Amino acid sequence: MTIETGLDGWLRYAALSPALSNAQQRYSSIIVLDTDETSPVYTAAKELQDGLKRILGQDIEFHFQLTGGSSSSIVVGTLESFSSAGGNTKDIPELKEDGFWLNTHADNNCVHIVGQNERGAIYGAFEYLMRLAQGNFDPVASASNPSAPIRWVNQWDNLDGSIERGYAGPSIFFKDGEVVKDMTRIAQLARLLSSVRINAVVVNNVNANPKLFSESNLDGLHRIANAMRPWGVRIGISLYFDSPKEFGGLPTSDPLDPAVNDWWNDITAKVYRKVPDLVGYTIKANSEGQPGPLTYNRTLADGANMFARALKPHGDGVVMYRAFVYNHHLDESVWKHDRANAAVDYFKDLDGKFDDNVIVQIKWGPIDFQVREPPSPLLANLRKTKAAIEFQVAQEYLGQQSHFVYMAPLWREILDFDMRIDGRSSHIRDIVSGERLGWNRSGYTTVLNIGSDSTWIGHHLSMSNLYAYGRIAWDPLSDPVSVIQEWTRLTFGLDKTIVDIIAKISMESWPTYENYSGNLGVQTLCDIIYTHYGPSPGSQDGNGWGQWTRANAHSIGMDRTVATGSGNSGQYPAEVAARYENIETTPDNLLLWFHHVPYTHRLKSGKTVIQHFYDAHYEGAAHAQTFPLEWAKLKGLIDDYRFEQVAFKLQYQAGHSIVWRDSVNYFYFAKCAFWLQGCLCYTRRGSFWGKAVITETNEAPGTAQKELTFPSGTYNIAVNYYDHLGGRAKYEISLGGKLIGSWVGDLEDRLGHDFSEYLDGHSATRVTFRGIKVEQGDLLKIVGQPDGSELAPLDYVSILPEGTID
Ligand code: GCU
Repeated sequence: MTIETGLDGWLRYAALSPALSNAQQRYSSIIVLDTDETSPVYTAAKELQDGLKRILGQDIEFHFQLTGGSSSSIVVGTLESFSSAGGNTKDIPELKEDGFWLNTHADNNCVHIVGQNERGAIYGAFEYLMRLAQGNFDPVASASNPSAPIRWVNQWDNLDGSIERGYAGPSIFFKDGEVVKDMTRIAQLARLLSSVRINAVVVNNVNANPKLFSESNLDGLHRIANAMRPWGVRIGISLYFDSPKEFGGLPTSDPLDPAVNDWWNDITAKVYRKVPDLVGYTIKANSEGQPGPLTYNRTLADGANMFARALKPHGDGVVMYRAFVYNHHLDESVWKHDRANAAVDYFKDLDGKFDDNVIVQIKWGPIDFQVREPPSPLLANLRKTKAAIEFQVAQEYLGQQSHFVYMAPLWREILDFDMRIDGRSSHIRDIVSGERLGWNRSGYTTVLNIGSDSTWIGHHLSMSNLYAYGRIAWDPLSDPVSVIQEWTRLTFGLDKTIVDIIAKISMESWPTYENYSGNLGVQTLCDIIYTHYGPSPGSQDGNGWGQWTRANAHSIGMDRTVATGSGNSGQYPAEVAARYENIETTPDNLLLWFHHVPYTHRLKSGKTVIQHFYDAHYEGAAHAQTFPLEWAKLKGLIDDYRFEQVAFKLQYQAGHSIVWRDSVNYFYFAKCAFWLQGCLCYTRRGSFWGKAVITETNEAPGTAQKELTFPSGTYNIAVNYYDHLGGRAKYEISLGGKLIGSWVGDLEDRLGHDFSEYLDGHSATRVTFRGIKVEQGDLLKIVGQPDGSELAPLDYVSILPEGTID
């Protein structure tokens, strides 16, 4: 049996059981209505040939002619080629750009796959194959059209091969300052993207490097575009605003300077000579230290329009101008200061001042991909200027793929939100589709950040987020449960137990993560200064980044009301503004986003804020313990390789959720305990060594030991320790002189999140030894062998009967 590495993602095309495959008709031929081997129509036919062989075991030949007598054929082409070949188009409803028609019971037992364009044809082929791969032979004759023309992904890849906020190894696009030579992974990525109808990828980091314009990198972009084009995926690039100055040798990058304009026009023409179908430019400017038009006292529109004019002569390329513009040196002592106001403050008055080929790219929430935010108010403030919503498949603030969070429910919640623009139904999905405000070009993008790991994203289960993103961008009413079931059948198999368990874990993953990370709209509470990974609730405040909680000994939350706070609630259309302005009508899960309240404030549930914090963290961590147990039921039902990899990660997540729970609960306990005087129910069950024990030098081993005085019995022994950068310490644990286990502090080799160099909430972790027989009086001993700067640090040990977690 070959190892399932995850490289094929959901396109493994596992063979159906003979009972199923024999039930499907045999096809005589694939008729491909395009002879150009680089066209997506041709690729679609190859994919059909390969897929049908793998799924159904049928060897089918290609033909290029549709003749009247063709029977039992699969015909694939564009509307134009299909109709010129004499195909019957009368039943095909109107197809939008990229849409397709799939008829599995056409005349003469044929299957017709007809795209509005070449991309549509390949999307239709994937649709058909993915139905078959799920054993779904139900006849279908229907058209499918996208909700929006822009369905992109962004890679934050640097030219040196690193990926900003990437958790799955180095870039597949760049290495050592250059575009890689081998295009294999790039074509494989294009295949996956195409199968979920994503039509473009921006290949380099928004914190861009002007050396992308070197001759050899332009040649590299040419290679990337060629590798992706057969799959119907176009490429775009991110630009560094000061390129004219820093790369072109001009004295300025002022967007109103004619020489600067000429420079951009020339370089754009050069890029188009290499990539004639470039999809456009993405711009991050005047944000987090990046230069931009404001640097030259020009407006953001002046900057965006300069790029728009440079693109215009070359086709349909667009400027994706990011609305992520904010001051990261805000003074927290000013009650009215609020980073969440920035996007509307900067962009609202520019509405209508952008050229037609500028799209404002807006992160879904006002701050930065937190576990819970309201939708960005800017999504309701642009009328004439078109917008795209920006999601993040990379789980930057949501556990960085060392925790699993299925984000389709989160995205649906945002897209289903009704902004009530002018008092009328204005769901965000209809705003970004362009329907609500009559835009002709708008849509979706997401920060993807796949890397060279064979799982692509760093966690087999997290690939469901890429799949779901594609599905939702195509049809924002896609049901997150059906999507995960479909993905699971394709990725892991058709067995109902597999589908049910993975769907269950997935659907529970976001609320669980929210519970043990940050509740009530307080944000994720991870360390926002350092790695954005583990808990560090103290890091939100006391700095200029504006991700504040304003927690003190008595009260917590951002006052974003118009009446007494930053006025952020007033940036929403009237009905929504009124809802958030009033604490009674603000949902509990956004309470601390919009209101500053005492810890004793009562929620709609009747609990106080602080009690909810405490309980939710316990519930979340307790629930995370069920994930590895649920997963364990799949042993033998799926391949061992992926089973073990996921099992390891879910077990790690369960352990780290306890670190989260304790860190956040202790933090707030310490902050307000004296004041609360007992009104918080806070207990900590038995464990020993409350603080870290480390070896004295990095040479000799160290020992920690304790005589166990509690009654004999069978227990789980959980050891909390720290695994940080700088070494791979080794540990052995024994009981009553008998070795019961050993482990190595090598998580940096096995997990992809950003690692820390310190003993902190990022490096704190746990290993559990289950079902250990303990005799009263046994000596528990842990011997740690330090390595490098990792001094075998232990935190505490907890010994509890099965079912009790602490
Ligand atoms: C976040 C992220 C940065 C990134 C930025 C962006 O702040 O942490 O690494 O550059 O978003 O979206 O531009």
